[in-house]
Amino acid sequence: MNGLKSEIIEKNRQFVCPEKIRVFNDIGINLVIGKREGPYIYDIDGKKLIDLHINGGTYNLGHRAPEIIKALNEALEMGLDIGNHHFPSSQRGLLAEQLVELTPGDMKSVVFASGGSESVDVAIKSARHATNRRKIVSIDHGFHGRTGLSGSVGDTKNAQFFLSDAPDVSVGVPFNDLNKMENALKANDTAAVIIETIPATLGFPLPERNYLSDVKLLCEKYGALYIADEIQTGLGRSGKLWAIEHYGVNPDILVTAKGLSGGIYPIAATVLNKQAGAWLYEDGFAHISTFGGSEIGCYVGRKVLDIVSDPKLLRNVDIVSAYLLKRLQDLQKKYPYLLEIRQKGFISGLKFDGEIAGIEMLKALYDNGIWVMVSGYDFSVIQFKPYIYTDKPLVDDIIEIMEKSIIQCQ
Ligand SMILES: Cc1ncc(COP(=O)(O)O)c(C=O)c1O
Repeated sequence: MNGLKSEIIEKNRQFVCPEKIRVFNDIGINLVIGKREGPYIYDIDGKKLIDLHINGGTYNLGHRAPEIIKALNEALEMGLDIGNHHFPSSQRGLLAEQLVELTPGDMKSVVFASGGSESVDVAIKSARHATNRRKIVSIDHGFHGRTGLSGSVGDTKNAQFFLSDAPDVSVGVPFNDLNKMENALKANDTAAVIIETIPATLGFPLPERNYLSDVKLLCEKYGALYIADEIQTGLGRSGKLWAIEHYGVNPDILVTAKGLSGGIYPIAATVLNKQAGAWLYEDGFAHISTFGGSEIGCYVGRKVLDIVSDPKLLRNVDIVSAYLLKRLQDLQKKYPYLLEIRQKGFISGLKFDGEIAGIEMLKALYDNGIWVMVSGYDFSVIQFKPYIYTDKPLVDDIIEIMEKSIIQCQ
């Protein structure tokens, strides 16, 4: 390790994240990202990695996407800055209009945030105000963020750690279990169901046929709103702009973040239908966010939406992800160690044979030149998420490294 790298690690160990550094160190990973470009990140030592974690979708367009850097520069040259959330803004209005038009359901308004957790908080608050109910039903071991409200739904281990869980109003049910969902809703006391369309922390299990649309019907039956968390699954990576479009659901609220930033400037949004957004007409100061809806972020977000809603790009996601699936299936035939391939477009979970096989594969892939993350609540699965511009030669490189890693781990 060079001197600069150990200095950076030491400073972070001392002042930022000692325990996280220990955890990665125990697996044998001491990555300090230096150069980054397109699908690649480079350790400050020079090691090149294909980034297949893309920070949960943040680098959906790749690292330092030239078109996003250009948009950022344009925004600065136009004289924009964060703006002032109290007053109307051209960029905020335009991005909100674009989101309303591009989101399924009868969407009417948008509340901006600076990150995903904050936008989930807004979703929960909106649903509670609209229904005058507190209970939120989510999927066991789902993940929706780490702020107060977002952290108190889904897996609440970390909320408990900070004594900010809400056991009296947060209910978890297993994914793909409609009966348990109905049992949770039938007391007519639920404000909203929040579901990540293909849950990342569970290892991207695909929703069973009609599951999500039946959940929506149950919401309607029992007066709860449906919140689609599209923070990881949205923005074209599934082959449609929003993954929820594959499942015929018109949500009441949709949350987007991560990739909306183009990986360059933070911006997140909660898109609301009339019922969910009613509070905006009652009290405009009930929720505010200084950085939410920053004008520069809105300009960047508009550029991102222009790119990822292009039907030509979405068609290419279908074509290349089908090729990726075929190559993975060929690998699976040769190496049954690759137990299961879960895939929707470029959103994929790969399950390997062994309780911690995902961690072993993560390390082997890292050594061989790919960065992935293991699924938070299933260590046999790696989250495997090529960026949206992935082409066949990149797939071939990925498969070559994958095969080498499987041979080492099986
Ligand atoms: C599905 C999902 N929801 C919400 C969040 C929270 O987003 P943020 O980290 O921007 O607060 C994340 C972040 O990983 C996520 O993956």
